[in-house]
Amino acid sequence: MSGPIGVFDSGYGGLTVLKEFVQRMPHWDYLYLGDNARAPYGPRSFESVYEYTLECVEWLFGQGCPLVILACNTASAKALRTIQQKDLPGMDPALRVLGVIRPTTEVIGNYSATGNVGILGTAGTVISGSYPIEIERFFPGTRVYQEACPMWVPLVENDEYDKPGADYFVQQHLTTLLAQGNIDTLLLACTHYPLLLPKIKQYIPDGIQVLSQGSLVAESLKGYLERHPEMEAKLSRNASQTFVTTDSTTDFDTHASRFFGRPVHSVHLDLSAG
Ligand code: DGL
Repeated sequence: MSGPIGVFDSGYGGLTVLKEFVQRMPHWDYLYLGDNARAPYGPRSFESVYEYTLECVEWLFGQGCPLVILACNTASAKALRTIQQKDLPGMDPALRVLGVIRPTTEVIGNYSATGNVGILGTAGTVISGSYPIEIERFFPGTRVYQEACPMWVPLVENDEYDKPGADYFVQQHLTTLLAQGNIDTLLLACTHYPLLLPKIKQYIPDGIQVLSQGSLVAESLKGYLERHPEMEAKLSRNASQTFVTTDSTTDFDTHASRFFGRPVHSVHLDLSAG
């Protein structure tokens, strides 16, 4: 039995990652689940993010996905390790869940000449300390500066990312972050933030590069599947993408195309229906 690759996010952000998966690996089937009814996850407790993420992962497994990617930094930071260590061992041993933090931290040092890296993320991601801890493992001595941007996800989710109101919050957080050190590489450590890229570029000096995660995570998944033929053999390949949201499909379809770059038609999921 083969099944699709499950891709999960609290809302729309994971579509910026799925877009890169489809671009590089169009042959696989993908099942995207956005937990829009409970987004944003960024300000939520560890317990809530873990509980919601696990519920969504279990649903994706139930749909036949052998592999689930948490295309959400907040879920990767607050839930992935517990799911991998505590929950997966009690399930089918062939099932896998991967996140977005490791594929990013294992290459980020290659982009920085000064060894000063800036991380922009949700409060949950920043408070978890996942980025400084993981970057230290792969690139010891790198100085990691973080800034939580609690308003950025709401700006993106509410279609304000390209409007004048966004400028204030974008500039505010970039100014605070860049004042901390001689940063030459900025990471958008939230899968929603690529939509703010044009505004971000307006407020940073030339010479600072901005990395979005989608391409890094897609390259990493490609490598993972090459190294794991046993997983590759379990994936179905009809080049399909299916979109599921826990909230309104009308809203999802209206917003999602901006993240995915193509029209999206979603199906509603009521997780409480069991
Ligand atoms: N897209 C999620 C991330 O990468 C965050 C969105 C949220 O706060 O729900 O962190």
